[in-house]
Amino acid sequence: MDIDTDGGLSRNLFGKDFKWGVSTAAYQIEGSHDIDEKGSSIWDVYTERKNKILNGHHGKIACDFYNRYPEDLDLVKQLNIPNFRFSTSWSRILPNGTGAVNQKGIDFYNRVIDKCLENGTDPWLTLYHWDLPHALEQKGGWTNRDVISWFSEFAVVCAKHFGDRVKNWIVMNEPMAFTGAGYFLGVHAPGRTGAKNFIPAVHHTVLSISEGGRILKDLLPDAEIGTTFSCSLVEPFNSYPRNIAAAHRIDALLNRMFIEPILGMGYPKDDLWFLKKTAKYFHPGDEDKMAFDFDFIGIQNYTREIVKSSFFTPYVQASLVKARKRNVPFTSMGWEVYPQSIYEMIKKFNAYKGIKKLYITENGASFDDVISKGEINDTKRTDYIRNILAQVLRARSEGLNVEGYFAWTLTDNFEWTEGYHPRFGLVYVDFDTQQRIIKSSGHWYANFLKG
Ligand code: NOJ
Repeated sequence: MDIDTDGGLSRNLFGKDFKWGVSTAAYQIEGSHDIDEKGSSIWDVYTERKNKILNGHHGKIACDFYNRYPEDLDLVKQLNIPNFRFSTSWSRILPNGTGAVNQKGIDFYNRVIDKCLENGTDPWLTLYHWDLPHALEQKGGWTNRDVISWFSEFAVVCAKHFGDRVKNWIVMNEPMAFTGAGYFLGVHAPGRTGAKNFIPAVHHTVLSISEGGRILKDLLPDAEIGTTFSCSLVEPFNSYPRNIAAAHRIDALLNRMFIEPILGMGYPKDDLWFLKKTAKYFHPGDEDKMAFDFDFIGIQNYTREIVKSSFFTPYVQASLVKARKRNVPFTSMGWEVYPQSIYEMIKKFNAYKGIKKLYITENGASFDDVISKGEINDTKRTDYIRNILAQVLRARSEGLNVEGYFAWTLTDNFEWTEGYHPRFGLVYVDFDTQQRIIKSSGHWYANFLKG
């Protein structure tokens, strides 16, 4: 069911309690990487390395949100977006990762939170969106079990300083993405590779997510505590049994590996044999400690994946078939435009027992935007969001649990390894002048939210 006109799609249909928002992340927007006693993060260091980031881009300035947050938060208000999701840079708050708190870092996030509240916008705080303090990476980062206590310390500091005003918390963003890309493939910070890094990073991340949840709930019993996971509909290239089996493995890898231990189901070891290697890093009691009963789970979906079996790929014996080879529409990230994927993911996560509330905490699309006469007419992005929302509505009308939608993202920003080339924003940024221009998709979202 594709609804490609606004006929039939209005905010009211989602109900008055449905949460509408927009999501961002510290390293992708803030800049001011070494200002006001901020410590280095793994992304500050990784972006200095040769040939790691497209065109040698980095986040030293990014969208200059550190200075321009009042203007950007006014845009959120102007776009009628009631909820703003941002993340805290751990090394801005604790420059060494643990120990001394940097008051200037706390002050910055206080200003952001206060400005949100002044504008009538609800702040949603993500503790960790991939920018580990470099000082901690030097001690092994996510591969070192001590990271659980380092992260706990950070969670306590944030809860104490921001918990009086922030009522919605997200412990961690997309654990599969940062452990897979950062500790197995080496294509994200810190650039480590192989199972010897990946497996301990996975286990310590799971334990940190659940421990972070417990800490926030303890200190802030009235707040809503959640965490987010990436997910994609995974389908086999054709009905050959070996491709069906490969798709099953990739589904376990991309969609089940982190949520299942958090829900108390343990790792999907039967489908991913290499997860048996986590045993080496288990301490007594870990099985129980991995689980936490979150108030909400955020899922983040952008595309679907088509899978073929491949004997050349270690651990999963499967490879993804690129959208550009399949004669289907795709974004400037090369990701297939396939709105039904979000509906299938809502259904999949609804099938788990124990998810109290499900939100879409990120969704969006990058396209090569062009300015013409000072305007950006990004109809592809508007169509993308509209078709996605039709699928979310379809899920709701079938009685499925999905209580919110956050667009990725407010402004064009630093898209990790891809630098500034992919533009995901509802608002265009000219990175030479830092000028912002609301794209037609932004105007569309604002209009839609006006109801
Ligand atoms: C997921 C990540 O959370 C975010 O940082 C990234 O920019 C978007 N997806 C788009 O790739």
